[in-house]
Amino acid sequence: MLWLAQAAAILAIHLTKVGAAATLYPNATNPNPSNSTNASELNDATSPPYYPSPWMDGSGQWADAYTKAQDFVRQLTLLEKVNLTTGVGWEGEACVGNVGSIPRLGFRALCMQDSPLGVRFADYVSAFPAGGTVAASWDRGVWYQRGYQMGMEHRMKGVDVQLGPVVGPLGRSPEGGRNWEGFSPDPVLSGIAVSETIRGIQDAGVIACTKHYILNEQEHFRQPGDVAGYGFVDGISSNIDDKTLHELYLWPFADAVRAGTGSIMCSYNQVNNSYACQNSYLINYILKGELGFQGFVMSDWSAQHAGVSSSLAGLDMTMPGDTAFDTGLSFWGANLTIAVLNGTIPEWRLDDMATRIMAAYYLVGRDRTQVPVNFNSWSLDTYGYEHPYASMGYGLINQHVDVRAEHGTAIRSAAARSTVLLKNNNALPLSGKEKFTAVFGEDADNNAYGPNGCSDHGCDDGTLAQGWGSGTASFPYLVTPLAAIQNEVLQYGSIIQSVTNNWAYTQIEALAKQASVALVFVNADSGEGYITVDGNEGDRNNLTLWKDGDALIKNVTGYCNNTVVVIHSVGPVLVDAWYNNPNVTAILWAGLPGEQSGNSIADVLYGRVNPGGKLTFTMGASRTDYGTDIIYKPPNGHAAPQDNFDEGVFIDYRYFDKNNIDPIYEFGFGLSYTTFAYSNINVIKASAGAYTPTTGMTLEAPVLGNYSTNPADYQFPSNMTYVTAYIYPYLNSTDLSKASEDSSYGLPTEKYIPAGATDGSPQPRIAAGGGPGGNPELWDVLFTVTATIANNGTIPGEEVVQMYVSLGGPDDPKVVLRGFERLSIQAGSSATFTADITRRDLSNWDTATQNWFISSYPKTVYVGSSSRKLLLSSALNI
Ligand code: BGC
Repeated sequence: MLWLAQAAAILAIHLTKVGAAATLYPNATNPNPSNSTNASELNDATSPPYYPSPWMDGSGQWADAYTKAQDFVRQLTLLEKVNLTTGVGWEGEACVGNVGSIPRLGFRALCMQDSPLGVRFADYVSAFPAGGTVAASWDRGVWYQRGYQMGMEHRMKGVDVQLGPVVGPLGRSPEGGRNWEGFSPDPVLSGIAVSETIRGIQDAGVIACTKHYILNEQEHFRQPGDVAGYGFVDGISSNIDDKTLHELYLWPFADAVRAGTGSIMCSYNQVNNSYACQNSYLINYILKGELGFQGFVMSDWSAQHAGVSSSLAGLDMTMPGDTAFDTGLSFWGANLTIAVLNGTIPEWRLDDMATRIMAAYYLVGRDRTQVPVNFNSWSLDTYGYEHPYASMGYGLINQHVDVRAEHGTAIRSAAARSTVLLKNNNALPLSGKEKFTAVFGEDADNNAYGPNGCSDHGCDDGTLAQGWGSGTASFPYLVTPLAAIQNEVLQYGSIIQSVTNNWAYTQIEALAKQASVALVFVNADSGEGYITVDGNEGDRNNLTLWKDGDALIKNVTGYCNNTVVVIHSVGPVLVDAWYNNPNVTAILWAGLPGEQSGNSIADVLYGRVNPGGKLTFTMGASRTDYGTDIIYKPPNGHAAPQDNFDEGVFIDYRYFDKNNIDPIYEFGFGLSYTTFAYSNINVIKASAGAYTPTTGMTLEAPVLGNYSTNPADYQFPSNMTYVTAYIYPYLNSTDLSKASEDSSYGLPTEKYIPAGATDGSPQPRIAAGGGPGGNPELWDVLFTVTATIANNGTIPGEEVVQMYVSLGGPDDPKVVLRGFERLSIQAGSSATFTADITRRDLSNWDTATQNWFISSYPKTVYVGSSSRKLLLSSALNI
C-alpha cells in the first residue's frame, strides 16, 4: 500500500547539513555594507549546530497552559502524540493544514488555515486590508481590532490556527513579492504591529502562527526545484551575520514571542546554507533558547526536508504532512513512531512537540472556543468529500456560515486611516460639488471576471485591493472606487464620467479636457511565487506602475490641470516621472485596502476622514536607490543561490540616510488636511538597575507517560478504512526496519545523530534569554520622552508622531525608529506625545558575549513627523 512506503533514505541523508561545523553567526562582524557578492564574507556561509532542542518550561504567560498541556499529553499513546505533530497530507481534510485526531479523548483534528488578512478559501468572510496597508495607520487600536475580528472569523469557521501574521519577509527589497503580507521594513514598527495583531487574534480564541521564520525575503528560489534552462536548484540561502540577524530581522519575531504567539512557521529558504525548518541554530538556539519561545514551530507547506533531523533541530509540526503534495509519504507519521521506538528520537522530544502544540491550544482557550470546522477549502459546494484528494467520505462539507458581523465598518475605517496623503496643492478634500468629475484607470473599476475571478487573486484586473497567493481571502463584495465616487457625486447632482481602459487614448483625452477634477487610479501588484502574473514570478520585476500607469497619468495631466492620483500598490512605486508635475494637484497612497476599498478612499477624498496615515517604507526615485535587490537568475551549476545580506542593517530609510540619497517621499512621511507644530521635548530618566545576563541551568526534560515498546501495538488497525494518500502514524510491519522501508536502516551512516541532540539533562540557560522574547530586563524603561504637538490648522486631525534614536556608533544607522503615537488633536489644541525608551531600544548586539549592550557612543533622541523631519532633539545621558 502506498501509505506504507515511507520515505526511504530520510533517516540517513537529511542529517547532513545540521552537523556543519563552522560558526558563522557568532564570529561574524558586521560586514562592509556593499552589495558586491564577490567580496562578501557571507558567501557560502554555514550554520553551526545547536542541540539539544530546548523543552518548554511554561515561562511568562504560559504557566497555566503548560500544566494543562502536560496533563493532556500524559494521557496520550505514542501514536496519539505523533498524530498531533503530523499533517494528514495535502487536501486530506477541510483546511489547508490538518493534523490527525485523537478520537479516544474526543479531540478533533486541529485545523490550520490561511491567511494573514482573513479566512482563505471560504465564503461569507471578510477581506481585511493587507498588513502592509494597515501598518500605515501607525495605530495600535486598528491593528488589535483587525486581529481580533480576523480571529473571530477564523474561530467561527472552526479554524484552530490562523496562518498569520507575517514579519518575514520584513521587506529587505521593495520588489519582494510578499512584502505586503507583512507590515514594514522597519523592525520596531513591524514588531509593534505584529504584537497587537497576535493579541487580537488570540484574544478571539484562535492560535496565531507568526511567519515565515526567517529571512524569506524573496520568492524566486524559495524552494528547491527545477528551473527551466538551469536544472535543479536548491532553495535559496539567505546569508546573514549575527548582528544583522538580531538588530533587524529577528527583532519583530522577538516581539511576537513576547506577545505570546502560539505558533511560528519556519520558512522555505535556507539560512546560511541550512534549511530554515531544520536549522538547529535558528530554532533551538535562537528561537527556543534565546527568545524562550514556548509555542510550536510549524513547517511551511513542504518546507520540511528531513525526518529525524528536523525533529532534533526543533520542528514541532509538519505541514501539510506529506513529503511533497499527495505522495502518501511522510518524513514523520509512521517514521516518527519508528524513530521513537528505535530510540533515535528521545521520548522527551516527542513529548515536548506535543506539549507545545497543546499549550498553544490552551493558552488561547481553544478548549472553550472551538466549534466544528464548517467550511471546506477545496470546494464551495454544500456537499462534497471530507477527504478531497482521495475523493472519499461524501457528505455535508460547507455550512456557509456568515462570520462577517459588522466587520465591514471597521475595515472601511482602518483602510481610510491607513491612507497616506503624499501631495496636496489645496486640491483635497473635494466637496462632491465639483462641476465635472472624471475618473480614469482600470484600477478604479471592477474585474470583469468578478472580485474573486482569478484563482488566489493571481491577476491584476480591475481595482487592486489585495495581492496574490496564499495570503488572500475571498471578497464578499468589493466596493470599487468608481462606484463610491459616483455615489458621492450624484448626491449633489454633479456630473461624473469615467474611462477605465488605460489605453483608450482618444477617449481619455476627450474626457480629461472636460474635467474640473480628474481622479486617476493606478496600481502595482505582487504575490506568492507559485503564481506568475504578467511575467512577475511573485517578486516584482520592477517598481514601475502596472498597466502603463505612467502613460495614463501623462495623458490625463496633459489635458487636466487638476489631477489627483491614487495609488493602490504592494509597496513603493516609482513616481519620479510625474509627482512634481504642477497638474498633479494631489497624490494619495491607499495600499491594498480590502473589501471596502472605494468607500475608504471616498472618505478621504471627500474629507470625512482627515488623512493621518504615514509611509511605512521609503519611496525612492529609482530602484537602485534602495541598495538591495532580488536574485532573479540561479547561479551556474546546481548549488543554492547565495543571497548575501551584505548591506547589514541598512535597508530602506537606513540605507538612504547612510548614503545621503534623497528619497521622493521618506519613511514616516504623510500629510494631513490640517497642520501640526512640534515643541517642548522633555526627557525623563528612569531608574532601571544594571542589566543582568541570565545564568543557571534549566530543569531536565520532562517525560510524560510511558509507551509500549512492542511494535505489534502500532500496526494499522484492521477495522479501519485506509484513505488514499492519507498520512497515518501506524506501521505496516512489526519489524521496524521493514516498516521504515529504508534500505540503509541500521547502517552506521543512518545512525548519525548530532552530538548532544538526545540529551535531556539540564542545560545552561542563555545570557540574552530568560523569558519569552528574550531577557526581560531588555524591556526596562530607561527614559520617557514627551513633546507637545499642536494642531495649528482649522479642522481636527490626527498626527503620527515618531521618535527616533541615534545610537551614535560608526556602524549605526543615522537614526532608527523606536517609538510612535498617533494623536487625535482638535483644531487650535495641543496634545502630549509620550514614548518610553527601553534598554533594548538603546542596545546593540555584541557577537562576542552573545548579548545586548549599550555602547559608549553619545546617544540622541529625536521627535519628528517623519524619518527626515526630526523636529525636536535631546541628548540621552545614560
Ligand atoms: C505559504 C504559507 C502558507 C502555506 C499554506 C505556503 O506556500 O508560504 O504562507 O501559509 O502555503 O497555504
